[in-house]
Amino acid sequence: MKKSLGAKTLVYPTPVFVVGTYDKEGKPNVMTASWGGICCSQPPCIAVSLRKATYTHGNILARKAFTISIPSEDHVRQADYFGLVSGRSVDKFTATKLTPVRSELVDAPYVEEFSLIVECKLAHVFELGLHTQFIGEVMDVKAEDSVMAKGGLLEITKVKPLVFAPDTQGYYECAAQWFEY
Ligand SMILES: Cc1cc2nc3c(=O)[nH]c(=O)nc-3n(C[C@H](O)[C@H](O)[C@H](O)COP(=O)(O)O)c2cc1C
Repeated sequence: MKKSLGAKTLVYPTPVFVVGTYDKEGKPNVMTASWGGICCSQPPCIAVSLRKATYTHGNILARKAFTISIPSEDHVRQADYFGLVSGRSVDKFTATKLTPVRSELVDAPYVEEFSLIVECKLAHVFELGLHTQFIGEVMDVKAEDSVMAKGGLLEITKVKPLVFAPDTQGYYECAAQWFEY
């Protein structure tokens, strides 16, 4: 027996992405986004959906680029903070003592202390309603040695990505377990 929950944005899991951009003055900014994910394999593309009200929205349109830094469980407080305040009024890097690094491939910064980074060139913009969907073509993915497994693959249990639950607004660990089937 299933109960109708109504027309809601409710799927599991949603990611915790930290979207990095530069503003007009070149100030680095980061915002948390859970409305996003992989959207094309070839060319490799990632989508994030942002409200026009965010500072990041204008930054992406102006710079035609963004990065995604993946926070681990160790950085849940900073990831939450990035989603609560706006870069219009605060320098979030200074406030959290995290380090912005200029991407060499796209016109956007990423978070040095986060172990997994995706660098994206803006490829498409779709107006969906409240949110604008930005499709970024992936120029490179960078990962710390410490989160790599043998053979050049990423090890999810070392990346320790967060999962966000849109209904309870809670953060959860990704209890990664390799299922044998
Ligand atoms: C876990 C989490 C996920 C969020 N996901 C989104 C999202 O996908 N799209 C969006 O527009 N805002 C999202 N937000 C809200 C923005 O992060 C928030 O408005 C932020 O202050 C915008 O920063 P900016 O003005 O510096 O760009 C999220 C917030 C949190 C805490």
